[in-house]
Amino acid sequence: MRLDKYLCELNTGTRSQAKAYIRQGLVRVGGVVVKSPEFQVNEATDQVSLKGVLLHYQQFTYFMLNKPKGVVSATKDRSERTVLDLLPGDRQKGLFPAGRLDKDTEGLLLLTDDGPLVHRLLSPKKHVEKTYLVKTKKPVTPQAAAALEAGVDMGEGEISLPARVCILKDRELLLTIHEGKFHQVKRMLGAVDNQVEALKRVAFGGLKLDEGLKPGEYRELSAQEVSVLYEQAGNSLS
Ligand code: URA
Repeated sequence: MRLDKYLCELNTGTRSQAKAYIRQGLVRVGGVVVKSPEFQVNEATDQVSLKGVLLHYQQFTYFMLNKPKGVVSATKDRSERTVLDLLPGDRQKGLFPAGRLDKDTEGLLLLTDDGPLVHRLLSPKKHVEKTYLVKTKKPVTPQAAAALEAGVDMGEGEISLPARVCILKDRELLLTIHEGKFHQVKRMLGAVDNQVEALKRVAFGGLKLDEGLKPGEYRELSAQEVSVLYEQAGNSLS
């Protein structure tokens, strides 16, 4: 495939932008600058980078969904509406959610058919970062924030890993964690004698929730965003 077409198919911009990037020397194939838009790329084997960022030919599909409350993070369910039901039928094929958000949680959920990537992103060993906007029943004291950062006893012998807390308001904080245990955020807040009133995931694996997406809306990831996920998953080459 021609290099300019390849860049275009990876959503890096229009065909004329692709040509401009190539002529400006911003594109490398196998580490070597290529200045000719008609250069033939092997999309299966060539490593192509734009402005130093390695691109991944989209053999797979990746959507960022702003999950609304009231739908379950599953591909199908007997009685509940699922996150896949938010996509038209012809776009659902082979997709699944990368992990779970509770039915009453909203925010960033990755939908993809890239099983190996999701496997790595969700691996407990990778400690991929997730940030939640948490509204709480009671104000979070500085002592509670310090405990959440250090690690709390979530019950059943589980101690949370160190986390980051940023208090935004009396009853509102950003909590960044590096694991994804069942009801983790709710259990962490429970451990400091508080309760989650509303939960929204605003970042996952280096991706930020697109503020332009209303609950229930989704969009395809750009090639750069896919690269970020691959870097977070600890393998920028596959
Ligand atoms: N933690 C929770 O308690 N619920 C979620 O949906 C995500 C993280």
